[in-house]
Amino acid sequence: MTVSVASAPGKFVILGEHAVVYGKPAISLAIDRRFTIKVKRSNEFLINGEPLDLNLIPYIKSICMRHYMIPVSLRLDSTIPSGSGLGSSAALSVALSAAMNSLFNKKWTSETVAREAYEAEYFAQASGSPMDTSASAHGRGIALNIQDAGDHLWTIEKNENRWDISDIDVPEMTFVIGNTGIHAPTGPLVKKVKKYRETNKFASDIVDEIGDISLDGMKAINADDRVELGKLMTANHKLLSILGVSCNELNKLVDVVLPYSYGAKLTGAGGGGCMVALTDKPEIVAKAIESRGGTPYIVKTGVNGVTLE
Ligand code: PMV
Repeated sequence: MTVSVASAPGKFVILGEHAVVYGKPAISLAIDRRFTIKVKRSNEFLINGEPLDLNLIPYIKSICMRHYMIPVSLRLDSTIPSGSGLGSSAALSVALSAAMNSLFNKKWTSETVAREAYEAEYFAQASGSPMDTSASAHGRGIALNIQDAGDHLWTIEKNENRWDISDIDVPEMTFVIGNTGIHAPTGPLVKKVKKYRETNKFASDIVDEIGDISLDGMKAINADDRVELGKLMTANHKLLSILGVSCNELNKLVDVVLPYSYGAKLTGAGGGGCMVALTDKPEIVAKAIESRGGTPYIVKTGVNGVTLE
């Protein structure tokens, strides 16, 4: 193959971010915003026509190293805002992994791509769970470490943690994402929670409680009980705030949508980035987000994972 093009979706986290890093249960859904990457052989590494310094983008470097550093030209195109809790770097790594494997005629599946992309994320951040990369590779919805959630997809282990990842059936629900516009890289926020959890029993109890909320959330999803699921999302947001990963702008957006939503919470690492609301009134929620300076996206779920274009 001389050129290959692959795309992979972003995601949001219904329940369980940060706690999932320690192997606690979590649930994440892929969304209709995608990272698309076109790859072709070249004499030097190029990104969107410019010379590429691989040391500046460790996600890309990690995947190129797995393909013997054969120089390639990359064209990137994305509708996922970066550093915003929507899994943009994971979608990049997943799409790149699929495109590179195809370019070099290597067999791949969503599982092999999820594994390669997780290694790239870990190489770049030196921390984190395989939630984002698995959600992006598989698409639809995934549960991590929730027994009997759905068909088992794959298991990933890193250091002392293990994540059993399953496909989940999600009833039709409407979610609205609100972007604060504040960029917040994941790595430092994950490290902040790690330190807090290691030094404070109270923080480690909160992490456990978030895991329990995800277990209850899976039951609510299976029962198609939005009222309960919304309550759990809002409770999850409060616990994340206590862990110190929310911020005023996120809290403002969560507050303003709650009167029109079953529940709302930040999604992803926090510190800025996005929140998500579960609602039956998407237009009203979108306007409310705008009224507080946020950018709303009414998102579709149930989308495909990584695909060759
Ligand atoms: O902000 P994002 O999209 O990178 O999501 C991070 C999710 C965390 O649970 C905070 C970290 C992880 O690796 O699971």
